[in-house]
Amino acid sequence: MKTRSMSLPVAATAVAFAVIFALSAMAIGGAAAAVVEHTFVVSEMTVRHLCKETLVTVVNGQLPGPVIEVTEGDTVVVHVVNKSPHNITIHCTNCWADGVPMITQCPILPNQNYTYRFDVAEQEGTLWWHSYTSCLRATMHGAIIIRPRHGVSSYPFPKPHKEIPIIVGEWWEMDLDELDRSLVNGYFFDIPKASTINSKLGDLQNCSGVKEDSYVLDVEPGKTAALFSEYYLKIAGHKFTVVGADANYVRPYTTDIIAIAPGETVDALMVADAPPGRYYITAVGNQAPKPDPQLPLYIVRGTVQYSTCHIADDGTQEDPCVGAPVAPEMPDQHDVMLSLYFHGNLTSLNHTRQTQVPQRADESLYITIGLGSICRRGGQSCKRSGNFESIMVATMNNVSFKLPDVNRPVLEAHYYNTSDMDALQELPDRPPKVFNFTDVDLIPWGPKERRVEPTSKAALARRFRYGAVVDIVFQSMSVIKSDSNPMHLHGHDMFLLAQGVGNFDPARDVAKYNLVDPPLRNSVLVPRVGWAAVRFVADNPDSLD
Ligand SMILES: *[C@@H]1O[C@H](CO)[C@@H](O)[C@H](O)[C@H]1NC(C)=O
Ligand SMILES: *[C@@H]1O[C@H](CO)[C@@H](O)[C@H](O)[C@H]1NC(C)=O
Ligand SMILES: *[C@@H]1O[C@H](CO)[C@@H](O)[C@H](O)[C@H]1NC(C)=O
Ligand SMILES: *[C@@H]1O[C@H](CO)[C@@H](O)[C@H](O)[C@H]1NC(C)=O
Ligand SMILES: *[C@@H]1O[C@H](CO)[C@@H](O)[C@H](O)[C@H]1NC(C)=O
Ligand SMILES: *[C@@H]1O[C@H](CO)[C@@H](O)[C@H](O)[C@H]1NC(C)=O
Ligand SMILES: *[C@@H]1O[C@H](CO)[C@@H](O)[C@H](O)[C@H]1NC(C)=O
Ligand SMILES: *[C@@H]1O[C@H](CO)[C@@H](O)[C@H](O)[C@H]1NC(C)=O
Repeated sequence: MKTRSMSLPVAATAVAFAVIFALSAMAIGGAAAAVVEHTFVVSEMTVRHLCKETLVTVVNGQLPGPVIEVTEGDTVVVHVVNKSPHNITIHCTNCWADGVPMITQCPILPNQNYTYRFDVAEQEGTLWWHSYTSCLRATMHGAIIIRPRHGVSSYPFPKPHKEIPIIVGEWWEMDLDELDRSLVNGYFFDIPKASTINSKLGDLQNCSGVKEDSYVLDVEPGKTAALFSEYYLKIAGHKFTVVGADANYVRPYTTDIIAIAPGETVDALMVADAPPGRYYITAVGNQAPKPDPQLPLYIVRGTVQYSTCHIADDGTQEDPCVGAPVAPEMPDQHDVMLSLYFHGNLTSLNHTRQTQVPQRADESLYITIGLGSICRRGGQSCKRSGNFESIMVATMNNVSFKLPDVNRPVLEAHYYNTSDMDALQELPDRPPKVFNFTDVDLIPWGPKERRVEPTSKAALARRFRYGAVVDIVFQSMSVIKSDSNPMHLHGHDMFLLAQGVGNFDPARDVAKYNLVDPPLRNSVLVPRVGWAAVRFVADNPDSLD
């Protein structure tokens, strides 16, 4: 589990020298399970944006990276050839090598190779693969599209005409390895330069008046397309029907806006039924209002263009296709409630493969997530509230993550049952002290905030009996920052039972749990100054396969 992933950075421009060999069995009804094999060559390349050259780390020279297309039941084999100077891991969902460096695997060193092999089971829809080491996922990521094993006609929604991954991300000029080091060392001064749609910065960005390229999505009138993305996303003149999230089906939900947090994926249908023309597809980053520290407004747009808009050979063009595209009305960047509503409206679809939610939990944890600080020179006493003597860290129940002091990945140490594991402290069930976690007076630096700021770092583990049903209520705190927090659980899906604003109160809130059709997610957005309750079964397959 990771707390507080930063907003997901992404980068730009495709320079393709692809080395992909997809043997995917797309749309073949009842096809036997196939082996889908890819070679990912990781290297650095220079990309020019906003009049500046930036060195970025990419897979197969592509931005975004290659799409892995599979059918449920297939085996995926990814040969990673690391030609970059960085230590690399890639997260692709398998327990034994799911990419968390030094937790489940060692990083792939420069000039080394590693082969990931995993089975795609019980997931359909869109996921994403990404680099797990440092902030390199900003430029090392791509979509995984999983189709049903009985062919696309067995989707529990109208068969789309086209499937188009839309990745909303950010463009950083800072060296991302350096960014990672500065985050770890508590100096986080840089911010992304722009947002991107499928790695294009769009026409709202320019350098000396020369506009950046925009992403253009071509559609045919009357056809349905499937989308996948991250942020607040709208397309002028069109609605979406959300049919999946994190590769699980949801009951179709029609909306004109998609809210998506780092790590989440959404599958949505869009019917191209507007009058032929050109429409902006716009993404805007949302953020907590002041007194939270403010980032610049991140907004990026591309266009959706009807096929009837292509210029004819004689140079003539239909009327609606000339002039400025139609723009959607975007929500205020501080309207974080829309995200809460969007997530609250998703329920699971009752279909043949749907796992029923267990009605009862064996263990319940209440975990606060937020910021705290440790002293730069160790010890308990130092100046806080943003003073250089302290380092800001993210915490769970008032403990910040520290890599265990073992010379092999934790999973391996656990497997061989060495005494290394015994050194790990247990993640506590509850926060050590109860206070008003969502008190907005804790946001600004000051005496009130300073009382709850000091924290510590430790290597924590939490062991569950195999098959245990576990409830976790994640509580966002408003210490220093009051923003939402995406929480991702590796190797499992979680039922999102309920979410709410304020401090979780079992006497009042357990009654709100949806034990009928809660959505299954692998990433859950814990709302700003609020909480999210999840339930999962600790049954990650314990095999070396
Ligand atoms: C990569 O990992 C190795 C082994 O863990 C370590 O010695 C080395 O410093 C790391 N290199 C970088 C660039 O982080
Ligand atoms: C890694 O794979 C590449 C391409 O298959 C090969 O040329 C290279 O020799 C391999 N390197 C190592 C260290 O195995
Ligand atoms: C270029 O960007 C600047 C600053 O964002 C903006 O004020 C200006 O209008 C833009 N110029 C063009 C031609 O888009
Ligand atoms: C669903 O969305 C509507 C419209 O935004 C909102 O009013 C409602 O509260 C949402 N439902 C939940 C359970 O969040
Ligand atoms: C889901 O479908 C199954 C089988 O058709 C049925 O038994 C069950 O009651 C349904 N559950 C819900 C929540 O509708
Ligand atoms: C692992 O090691 C501990 C302590 O040495 C021992 O008590 C336990 O039985 C071992 N577990 C297994 C599965 O071997
Ligand atoms: C916690 O703080 C919030 C916001 O500052 C306030 O609205 C709420 O009443 C407080 N709750 C309690 C239990 O004091
Ligand atoms: C957090 O942990 C630190 C270090 O153990 C302790 O001093 C502090 O009182 C704790 N704070 C809260 C709010 O639990």
